[in-house]
Amino acid sequence: MRIKDARFVVSNSKVAQCPKSPLPEFAFIGRSNVGKSSLINMLCARKRLAKTSGRPGKTQLINHFLINHNWHLVDLPGYGYARVSKKEKKEFQRYITDYFLERKQMVNAFVLIDIRHEPQPIDLAFMEWMGTKELPFSIVFTKADKLSQNKIESTVQKYLDTLLAGVWEEVPPNFITSSSSGLGRDELLGYIEKLL
Ligand code: GTP
Ligand code: MG
Repeated sequence: MRIKDARFVVSNSKVAQCPKSPLPEFAFIGRSNVGKSSLINMLCARKRLAKTSGRPGKTQLINHFLINHNWHLVDLPGYGYARVSKKEKKEFQRYITDYFLERKQMVNAFVLIDIRHEPQPIDLAFMEWMGTKELPFSIVFTKADKLSQNKIESTVQKYLDTLLAGVWEEVPPNFITSSSSGLGRDELLGYIEKLL
């Protein structure tokens, strides 16, 4: 898919206020600082469409972007960010879970995982929650530029093995990406196009 047009639509803290549009949407979710906003900019080939930051907790709202006038891309706040208060953290959790439970137009969630880290309980718990709600998701490994080619393959295999050793009978679709090199862009856009 070629992205000819990408524009910011609106930010919301409540799912009820999200666009009423029935257009299909794809959500990007994961721990804070995993690279969600950077990946969105890489996919859209726009440097500052979604706001990025070296400090975790940058994206705090549900952000809708309209792509090619026919689908929405959604940048969600990161979960598991330790430096926000317990109350705020609960707030994130709530609007994230509300988003997934209420947005019927959500076609697929991309759960982002920093390729350098061992499987984290919060990511495994989030994927398990998606599974119990029968919500479709795929895994996107981010920051692959930080590892050598050999290390990428063994790390991803180890991650998928962890899923298989846990609650999963088969591994979800998965992608290896780097927002700095553009790795995985064609695969991800092709996958979205197939689901549209
Ligand atoms: P929150 O909005 O805070 O939840 O974070 P986020 O998941 O949107 O992360 P963001 O895109 O803001 O990126 C966080 C940091 O990681 C920034 O310093 C980025 O430059 C860096 N980063 C993101 N993607 C990549 C990547 O593919 N490679 C490298 N080397 N750095 C990356
Ligand atoms: Mg962000």
